Amino acid sequence: VPSRQPHPAPALDRLRVPTHVAIIMDGNGRWAAAQGLPRVAGHRAGRDAVRRTIEACRDLGVPILTLYAFSTENWRRPPDEVGALMDLLHEAILAEADDLHRNGVQLRISGDLGSMAPEIRRELDRVIALTRGNQAMILNMALNYGGRAEIVRAVREIAAEVAAGRLRVEHIDERAVARRLYTGDLPDPDLLIRTANEQRLSNFLLWQLAYTEFCFLDVYWPDFGREHLVAAIAEFQHRQRRFGGAPGG
Ligand code: IPE
Ligand code: IPE
Ligand code: MG
Repeated sequence: VPSRQPHPAPALDRLRVPTHVAIIMDGNGRWAAAQGLPRVAGHRAGRDAVRRTIEACRDLGVPILTLYAFSTENWRRPPDEVGALMDLLHEAILAEADDLHRNGVQLRISGDLGSMAPEIRRELDRVIALTRGNQAMILNMALNYGGRAEIVRAVREIAAEVAAGRLRVEHIDERAVARRLYTGDLPDPDLLIRTANEQRLSNFLLWQLAYTEFCFLDVYWPDFGREHLVAAIAEFQHRQRRFGGAPGG
């Protein structure tokens, strides 16, 4: 009997779901171009994919999801596109906050909010405070985020503490650096997904991805759905992580 589904959904081991999934959401512009639409239409469609992905992570029991939404380099885009992205972001927070809260999602931000519009900052602060106690899942949005800028910020903080005599040079170790990153108390991502078939990090989580498993998918972000997430997690579950040790050890 021919199956209507050529690729049956891979079986997931529910007990070995990654603790922290990070996603570089790429390909909104190409998705739009492929249907003769302006780039902004791709970003708008990307917003639905974000909603689907948060839901899917909650259902699958992924405790932490980090989404790369805007990089420190994305300011180089035409002002119209940057403006549209900021408007979309603002709309999305206003529209989704209650749902996030109702679903037990805790919102966090990685990135420099200092250069974001005050009304966006205010709204983000409100939702962060609203959802602070939620336990079902952590949604960490990387906004105006750059991995190098994040490391520079940590280095400055450490230097200032040393200069003030509050920290001894001998006490600067990996933990001391990691604690001062935006992801401070979060475990490193287990799985990184990048869509739209680009195989680069684009300044994302440079420190935190040291031993992360990478999965590059040939799907534009607006078309990303639960089946892609499940496929990536299934692939993750077949990887052998060594952390520098010997196989099986
Ligand atoms: C990702 O899609 C969204 C952001 C970077 C904000 P792109 O806008 O980068 O889409 P492409 O890469 O041009 O297709
Ligand atoms: C990375 O995608 C940034 C986000 C997804 C927010 P880009 O589309 O900006 O990356 P490059 O420019 O192709 O490396
Ligand atoms: Mg891109």
